[in-house]
Amino acid sequence: MFLELVRKRRSIRNFSDGIIDDETINKIIEAVLMAPSSRSIKPCEFIIVKDKKVLDDLSKSKEHGSSFLKGANLGIVVCSDTSKSDVCVEDASIASIYIQLAAESLNLGSCWIQIRKREHSSDKMAELYVSENLNIPSNYQVESIIAIGYPSEMKEPYNSNDLDYSKVHIEKF
Ligand SMILES: Cc1cc2nc3c(=O)[nH]c(=O)nc-3n(C[C@H](O)[C@H](O)[C@H](O)COP(=O)(O)O)c2cc1C
Repeated sequence: MFLELVRKRRSIRNFSDGIIDDETINKIIEAVLMAPSSRSIKPCEFIIVKDKKVLDDLSKSKEHGSSFLKGANLGIVVCSDTSKSDVCVEDASIASIYIQLAAESLNLGSCWIQIRKREHSSDKMAELYVSENLNIPSNYQVESIIAIGYPSEMKEPYNSNDLDYSKVHIEKF
């Protein structure tokens, strides 16, 4: 059930060594290719990274908030062709969360690594670092890398009683 899935989903940054088989990866790919897209243009493309050396390189995309990718068994880089759509950020964000929810449904842990608008270093943006490492053409914007693996940490699921319902307005703000 969808609500059970979203209650359970938490950002997981510590992973076991468990290898993710191709059948499981293919289910995640199937899910993300079904994600909705503005005008159904589908400008997003996905780079499946299993190579430990490449995951290690990508874990250095940013000074903070990407190092745990080194311990993941899979990274999915979400990028989009900005020459095709003017709402790439929305489409790439939906794709990213589809990947996370598909992973969750397969008992995998995942965490979003923000790449767009983040710095690799004082003189290089994280997007350029990732694009250079993976040969992504310059008309593609890199939104995120989703780190995926079997979890080696447990996090409490969300509890409906703790939600901030003051953020919800009825009829008017
Ligand atoms: C747009 C977005 C960008 C994020 N970027 C990062 C990131 O770069 N590094 C990271 O460790 N977590 C990142 N996260 C994960 C958030 O920190 C996490 O979702 C938040 O703390 C709530 O925790 P939860 O996912 O367990 O509910 C990102 C999440 C979103 C939605």
